[in-house]
Amino acid sequence: MRKGINIGIIGTGGIGKIHTWALMNNSDCRVVAACSRHKDRLQRFVQGLWEENPYTEEKIAPKYEIEKAYTNYKDLVRDKEVDAVFVCVPNALHFDISLEALKNGKHCFVEKPMCTSANQANELVDIAKKNNLILQVGHVWRFHKDVQMVKDLISKGVIGDIVKVKAYSNHVLWGPKGWFVDPKLSGGGSLMDMGVHAIDTVRFLLNDVRYVSAYADIRTRYGNYDVDDTDILFLKTENGIPVVVESGWNQTHSDGEEASVQIFGTRGYVRVFPTQAKIYVDNVYGDFVPEQIEPHNTLNTFVRQARNFIGAITGREKVLCSGEDGKHVIEVCEAAYKAARTNTVVKIPS
Ligand SMILES: NC(=O)c1ccc[n+]([C@@H]2O[C@H](COP(=O)([O-])OP(=O)(O)OC[C@H]3O[C@@H](n4cnc5c(N)ncnc54)[C@H](OP(=O)(O)O)[C@@H]3O)[C@@H](O)[C@H]2O)c1
Repeated sequence: MRKGINIGIIGTGGIGKIHTWALMNNSDCRVVAACSRHKDRLQRFVQGLWEENPYTEEKIAPKYEIEKAYTNYKDLVRDKEVDAVFVCVPNALHFDISLEALKNGKHCFVEKPMCTSANQANELVDIAKKNNLILQVGHVWRFHKDVQMVKDLISKGVIGDIVKVKAYSNHVLWGPKGWFVDPKLSGGGSLMDMGVHAIDTVRFLLNDVRYVSAYADIRTRYGNYDVDDTDILFLKTENGIPVVVESGWNQTHSDGEEASVQIFGTRGYVRVFPTQAKIYVDNVYGDFVPEQIEPHNTLNTFVRQARNFIGAITGREKVLCSGEDGKHVIEVCEAAYKAARTNTVVKIPS
């Protein structure tokens, strides 16, 4: 019997597993289909036979069985029983697969980065709108409780006017391998992998402000590959706030956890990862260290993200990270790569 929204997972790697797991926590949907190029891997996946989850603190794999196994995503997106798909494959494949899904009337959750060019992003946004379908992009930090708490403090004016922002997203002493370092599949290195998180989280914290210009120094300093692993971006927002974003792989140091955003205001300072604030309380300025609500990497953010997607499909809520949001991040990356190539400040289209 049909129960709720039927989901197809395309890509059964690390993040495909996380989303499947997160969706199992949602009684309004069912994962009914999965797609991988490899039959044996696919069989293990649909039978729920996978090892523990590397991204989360929860170490017990869920018990599940998925009915339909496809080795070609085109067959999955044509399946009339499937209502929505999760696109969990290498970055450069996001566009073709999401487009095919949207053309076949499926709501689409696409992992970050949304795709590898602003033109592609435009096309996805347009077709989703035309076909009245939900398009959501996987900038998952928007669903972290600490991020939402800090956003709330900022919007209440607790730190005054925003003066400057520093954000980073780095891997220390390690970097990904395989398709991540193949430009044809990744569309870029640590900026497309890690920097996109920081770029989006800053926007989210600042009420979805748009960036208007980028200057950048983007290099390969640690690895023997043809993608970047050391990125420094200097961005300006439409309301004149300077934002420094750093991203990298194999870095020798990071100021704290693997990612962080620090916001400096006229009356105070807030940070996520670790969560911290320096603010006036009863006219006394001091450190305020809220109890961290949840750890940096937690399955709960993915559970909330999936719930938001299903909620949007069923018309109960609005997506927190839309195709337009994903598109703006790609516009920023495109501008940053161009700025680094040309050593100029590049305007970001409004
Ligand atoms: N939001 C987050 O925090 C987060 C975290 C991690 C990753 N991501 C994003 O999720 C996407 C997938 O990343 P991942 O970490 O899950 O990667 P992964 O573990 O390497 O999995 C990639 C999946 O893509 C499939 N695939 C299809 N064509 C492929 C090809 N030509 N080469 C390699 N794999 C291919 C692979 O399936 P088969 O080999 O079985 O066909 C595999 O299931 C990326 O866009 C990444 O940026 C997001």
